[in-house]
Amino acid sequence: MKRIVILISGRGSNMEAIHRACAEEGWPASVVAVISNRPTAGGLAWAAERGIATASIDHRAHADRAAFDAALAAEIDAHQPDLVVLAGFMRILTPGFVARYAGRMLNIHPSLLPSFGGLHTHERALQTGCKVAGATVHFVTAELDHGPIVLQAVVPVLAGDTAETLSGRVLVCEHQIYPRAVRWFVEDRLVLGDDGVVRHTLNEPQWLFHTL
Ligand code: GRF
Repeated sequence: MKRIVILISGRGSNMEAIHRACAEEGWPASVVAVISNRPTAGGLAWAAERGIATASIDHRAHADRAAFDAALAAEIDAHQPDLVVLAGFMRILTPGFVARYAGRMLNIHPSLLPSFGGLHTHERALQTGCKVAGATVHFVTAELDHGPIVLQAVVPVLAGDTAETLSGRVLVCEHQIYPRAVRWFVEDRLVLGDDGVVRHTLNEPQWLFHTL
C-alpha cells in the first residue's frame, strides 16, 4: 500500500476528492496524514473526522522559510510517504524541500500552465481575454508552478464570467483530474525520470475537456 500525505491551506476540496476516490475505487494506497500550514484550515477537521492523522505547522511561528520547511519535512517524514500531494497548499517551498521529495510530490494549479502561475490566476486569465482556462497537475520542481505536466483539464471561458464563476467551473474539473493523476502514481503507472521527463504506462487520456 502506498502512503499519501496531503498538504492543504484551506477548505481541502481536492483533498476530499482524492480521499473519496481512493476509498471508492480501491486504490493500493491510503491517505495517512493531512498537514496544514494554517491551524484553522477547514480541511483539517474534515480529515480528523474520518480518522486521518492531522497536523498543523503554522508558518508564522517559524523564523524563515527554511525553518518552516524543516519542521514541515520532519512532520511529513514521520508518516513515511510514498507521495506528497499539494492540494491548495499556499506556500512557496525552498529548493531543499522540493529536492527532498523530487519525483514524489504533485501539485495542482488552477490554470493551463505554463500560463498564469502564482496568485490571482483566474483574474489574470479573464483580463487577458483567454477563451479557455483550466487546471494542471504537475510534478513539483523548484520553480513555482512550473514542473513537468502530468494532466490538464480545459474549460471554456463564458461571457460574463467572473473569477468566482470561472474558478468554480475549473474546480469541478480539478476534482476529476487530481484523483486520476494520484491514482496513476500509486498504481506505478507514472514516474518522473531523472531527466525531468514524465514517463507513463497509461491507457487513459492526460487531458479532460469540460462539456457544457
Ligand atoms: C484549488 O483551486 C487549487 O487548484 C489551488 O487552490 C485551490 C484549493 O482548493 N491551488 P481546495 O482547498 O482543494 O478546495
